[in-house]
Amino acid sequence: MTRTTAALTVEAFAKVNRSLRVLGRREDGYHELDTVFQTVDLTDRLYFSEGEDADDAGEVSLTIEGGASNDLPADSSNLILRAAQALRERFSVRRGARIHLSKKIPIGGGLGGGSSNAASALRGLVALWELPATEDDLQPLAASLGSDVPFFLLGGRARGRGRGEVLTPLPDGPEEWLVLAFPPFALSTAAVYGASSAAALTDSGAQTNLRNTGLDGGPERNDLEPAAESLRGELRRLRLALSEHGATSARLSGSGSTVFGAFGDGGSARRAFEGLAGLRKEMTVAMTIVTTVSRAAFARRAMPSVKAQHG
Ligand code: C5P
Repeated sequence: MTRTTAALTVEAFAKVNRSLRVLGRREDGYHELDTVFQTVDLTDRLYFSEGEDADDAGEVSLTIEGGASNDLPADSSNLILRAAQALRERFSVRRGARIHLSKKIPIGGGLGGGSSNAASALRGLVALWELPATEDDLQPLAASLGSDVPFFLLGGRARGRGRGEVLTPLPDGPEEWLVLAFPPFALSTAAVYGASSAAALTDSGAQTNLRNTGLDGGPERNDLEPAAESLRGELRRLRLALSEHGATSARLSGSGSTVFGAFGDGGSARRAFEGLAGLRKEMTVAMTIVTTVSRAAFARRAMPSVKAQHG
């Protein structure tokens, strides 16, 4: 039987984009963004251990469980294993690891689940392998894995520019309750950006307004909404329904497919949730209520913690 010498667990949070402006297309094919990220209390959990079997030496393995995991390969395309590989190369690591992912954040939902998992893998493996990695070391590794990954090293509320990886921490707003609506389909980030670029680039008004990106002076908006809603009209219906049920802001998150409504208190969020029961059923849309997660709470909960040792 394998004896586990060290075992760590890390919570990986989801995010929503409270606002997302697309400034234009860049020469590298990405889009220049100005967005406001916010961590929310919907989490995956990653478990890390280092087996002592000689067979395990130098291998990093990944297993996945959970309702949202059906479409998620546990192979080298998985961002968790790509994070592990990037860290091994950067710090010449020879040790192996066993990683187990318990998945709750929907895949292809615009909630950053894969990016969050990658950041958690960096954090967990730095702790497991006792690497002398600073935040400054991890930031470029995170950015090389995906545009949203660096945000998940920071948490709370932050403004993201560039591809989303150039971050400015923002003060936490008052706690909010969000009704998250998960349509029964995913949206491809690349497809939504592709469908959006024509509209965004011809909208010169968007260009000049982009300095104001919601929660920071200007109106909250998501420039990917028209493209996503042209691909799936159900998204618009959900967004309007959340507004009608009292959401102070109802938006697509990132490139979708999750739509969220924000509420100032739990009672209003619950009333909206109950009021939307018929629509949930009709559209086969799952919904859940989550709260926003401050940077301090994120810092406390997203750090690796030692699990009881077993063997
Ligand atoms: O960086 P990441 O791998 O998360 O991006 C996934 C895809 O989303 C990119 O290949 C690109 O098509 C699109 N994207 C973009 N502009 C961004 C971020 C993502 O066009 N700022």
